[in-house]
Amino acid sequence: MTRKIIFDTDPGQDDAIAILAALGSPELDILGIVAVAGNVPLHLAETNARRIVELAGRSDIPVHAGAERPFLRPLVTAEHVHGETGLDGPDLPPPSTPLQGGHGVDFIIDTVRAHEPKSVTIAALGPLTNVALALLKAPDIAERLQGIVLMGGAYFEVGNVTPTAEFNIYVDPEAAASVFASGVDLTVLPLDATHGMHSTLPRIEAFRALGTKSGAAVAAMLSFSQTYDLQKFGWDGAPLHDPCVTAYLVRPEIFEGRRVNIEVETGSALTRGMTVADYWGVTDRPKNAFFVRSGDADAFYALLTERVARLP
Ligand code: BDR
Ligand code: CA
Repeated sequence: MTRKIIFDTDPGQDDAIAILAALGSPELDILGIVAVAGNVPLHLAETNARRIVELAGRSDIPVHAGAERPFLRPLVTAEHVHGETGLDGPDLPPPSTPLQGGHGVDFIIDTVRAHEPKSVTIAALGPLTNVALALLKAPDIAERLQGIVLMGGAYFEVGNVTPTAEFNIYVDPEAAASVFASGVDLTVLPLDATHGMHSTLPRIEAFRALGTKSGAAVAAMLSFSQTYDLQKFGWDGAPLHDPCVTAYLVRPEIFEGRRVNIEVETGSALTRGMTVADYWGVTDRPKNAFFVRSGDADAFYALLTERVARLP
């Protein structure tokens, strides 16, 4: 049986690879893609989402635009990581696929309500603004969702945009706090898992060797990501974040973690957006999320390469 997925995303090279791998995965039925402001402003994020579905030959997948800015705070973007377009690297043409009318938050609500209870999962790859808005506008969808699998946060690995915060949570901590308090079944792929997934040169070459335009585009995206991240981390490859969500949806057994309580810091200027995970169970706060601590990087890249190989 296929699993029905709504992607909420701010593409982003790693968002793009997550979506492409999902489009190559027969286990997943992508119901639509909703863009959110994050890595780049909303108009670039939704344009990039349309470029991605076109690259995969899947213009039939509806792309909606969601929230233009976080709940309370000015938008923080990450062009220094992703380039001015958000999708620098490959040479993808401007999309001809139209943006769907209607707000992305309403698409989430209507789609979850239109399907059987517990049959739709949100795969969240950016700031949680749209997801939180949907849950606030239509609290009934909390019960109906199968779950939310999200890339965001960090605990042992601390932060990537501040010393204590991961980008997606940092951009809209109030939205994130609201999602973590929603009662929806949450799976969290934090930096603790994604920092183990180094895009080494042989792994990048495996995509290029597919000889397809999708393979070439993924290789170009990963090569672009090396420019900033290799200097920052000094590793043998850049970490690869959002595709961990797709890999988890398809093959959860390549990851390990545990159920914990996670709360989001919204008050402190110093630790804004920190995901405080009670990993050792030292409080009696309710366990509200499955925290993924690590994964098998070889199995992860083999899976991604195999799934991208199924695309044009
Ligand atoms: C997250 O932030 C973004 O820059 C990436 O697309 C990913 O979702 C990693 O912290
Ligand atoms: Ca992202």
